[in-house]
Amino acid sequence: QDHLLGIEKLGPDDITTLLDLADDYVALNRSDNKHGDALQGLTQVNMFFENSTRTQSSFELAGRRLGADVMNMSMQASSIKKGETLIDTALTLNAMRPDLLVVRHPHSGAVDLLAQKVNCAVLNAGDGRHEHPTQALLDALTIRRAKGRLHRLSIAICGDIAHSRVARSNIILLGKMENRLRLIGPPTLVPSGMEEFGCEVYEDMEDGLRDVDVVMMLRLQKERMDGGFIPSEREYYHRYGLDAEKLAFAKDDAIVMHPGPMNRGVEIDGTIADDINRSVIQEQVEMGVAVRMAAMDLLARNLRARRAAAA
Ligand code: CP
Repeated sequence: QDHLLGIEKLGPDDITTLLDLADDYVALNRSDNKHGDALQGLTQVNMFFENSTRTQSSFELAGRRLGADVMNMSMQASSIKKGETLIDTALTLNAMRPDLLVVRHPHSGAVDLLAQKVNCAVLNAGDGRHEHPTQALLDALTIRRAKGRLHRLSIAICGDIAHSRVARSNIILLGKMENRLRLIGPPTLVPSGMEEFGCEVYEDMEDGLRDVDVVMMLRLQKERMDGGFIPSEREYYHRYGLDAEKLAFAKDDAIVMHPGPMNRGVEIDGTIADDINRSVIQEQVEMGVAVRMAAMDLLARNLRARRAAAA
């Protein structure tokens, strides 16, 4: 692959190769010498047009641990504020010869468009409601390490699925790896026709969570609701917030996941989120660094090979 724009373009073998390499990087990150040289001599630019805590910091750490020169562009201070278009900004950056461009943008498809205009590898760090591929890959690695496999698991994705790029990337990835997917949420927050993608749809948490191996919670993405119906947080927590009572319907060893940022007392009870016997939320954050190291390593190998072939 030249870029990592979405899970859609990856096959099961691509996913397994990336997760195997990420496993190696987990071991490196847990050692006393966290440094590799896979990105030595390369320049990584992070362009985040939307706020981020986990994704931006883990991409930065991943690049630095592998020896890249990393620049975080401050989009608040950029000439985008003076009316420069995304494409002109990209072309300007491209002239400075970056090798890896990590982009988060509020509009679906903006990262794909940008990838067509530059000569480097582009990684999608989340575009609108479209995709968040490295989040799905880090979720997959977390599940594989917790459950010992990434196939034939019963996985519930709960909450605001309609506005979530995390849900979309996970549905594609977990479906490709032949898992049984259940989508649970109010009809206003679950896209219609998801059965055609092999998902079972539930309106009720008790029905949907029965005997699942994995419970993945999502926050209400109010910033993408475009003035549409926003449920009251109290009512939402009562019906869809994950608490001990609802979690009891899942398997006894079911794991609880959340991509963050988390709204305690809205989609998840704080004690469940902090229960180290059930919650793998902190492991997800750890896996994020390793997965991003693996993704940039593999793209850099392809980039170097293409450049060598063209020389
Ligand atoms: N999961 C995720 O994308 O978190 P951030 O918005 O903090 O990057």
